[in-house]
Amino acid sequence: MKTQPKARTHLGIKTFLFGVLVSCATPYAVAETPAKQDLQPVSAFADIKNEVTRSQSIFVEMGKVIQHPRCVNCHPKGDSPLQGMLMQPHQPPVMRGPGGTGMPGMQCKTCHLSENVDVVAQAADIKSIPGDPAWHLAPTSMAWEGKSLSDICAQIKDKKRNGGKTLQELKHHMSKDTLVGWGWEPGEGRIPAPGSQEAFGQLYVAWVASGAHCPK
Ligand code: HEC
Ligand code: HEC
Repeated sequence: MKTQPKARTHLGIKTFLFGVLVSCATPYAVAETPAKQDLQPVSAFADIKNEVTRSQSIFVEMGKVIQHPRCVNCHPKGDSPLQGMLMQPHQPPVMRGPGGTGMPGMQCKTCHLSENVDVVAQAADIKSIPGDPAWHLAPTSMAWEGKSLSDICAQIKDKKRNGGKTLQELKHHMSKDTLVGWGWEPGEGRIPAPGSQEAFGQLYVAWVASGAHCPK
């Protein structure tokens, strides 16, 4: 992968074409190059006098996390998780199965242990395997893949779709849940979600306090 640009000048067209083939076959490594983004603190929104606008703006800031691949990969619309910054289908193919824990013989916990595990093999594309004691897929009622931030917002507020939780109950989930928290500790070779879980939790609290308005 990394030798591709040089190969073009020094080793001729065949090597160049081979390089193109390899980069098409392994897009994850290329896509992981952007750095971690920041998250603005609640104070950055204090000047917005109109409460509805302030609330909507805070949710848009939260959207940087919510629509980040670290979160969306586990909130897919289909029956399989997604992987990497390009949110491609999980390899190997796995299905959500009962309760999102995988199918018999191919359960999430077969490969995803209680914490991230580094892959030490030198030539490995994958630097680590994600882990958490509760690693499983979010139900389809909570799917975020391909949805607008406004739709996701309405869905998060809807008790019929959010697991029966009030906005107060969701606060714990947003700011303390370990599956959510994994987004900021995703293991070697993965870009963490923007900001920190603490900062994200504070935005959530400020969003609820300002009326929990959804962006248009
Ligand atoms: C390993 C998979 C996984 C990852 C990664 C993940 N989630 Fe989830 N999420 C779940 C599951 C499973 C549920 C369902 C509740 C439960 O069973 O705990 C859920 C539910 C939620 C809910 C409940 C309400 C709703 O309507 O969706 C929120 C909010 C949420 N996740 C936020 C996040 C955020 C923010 C991130 C990224 C920082 C994230 N999740 C990453 C698996 C995941
Ligand atoms: C056979 C082993 C195996 C099984 C079973 C498995 N996974 Fe994975 N999973 C992996 C490996 C390895 C990676 C890391 C791939 C990478 O980073 O390119 C991964 C990555 C992921 C990611 C991507 C994280 C990210 O943001 O890039 C998610 C989400 C995920 N798995 C969810 C699940 C869920 C949910 C299940 C059960 C329904 C499951 N996996 C079952 C091996 C497995």
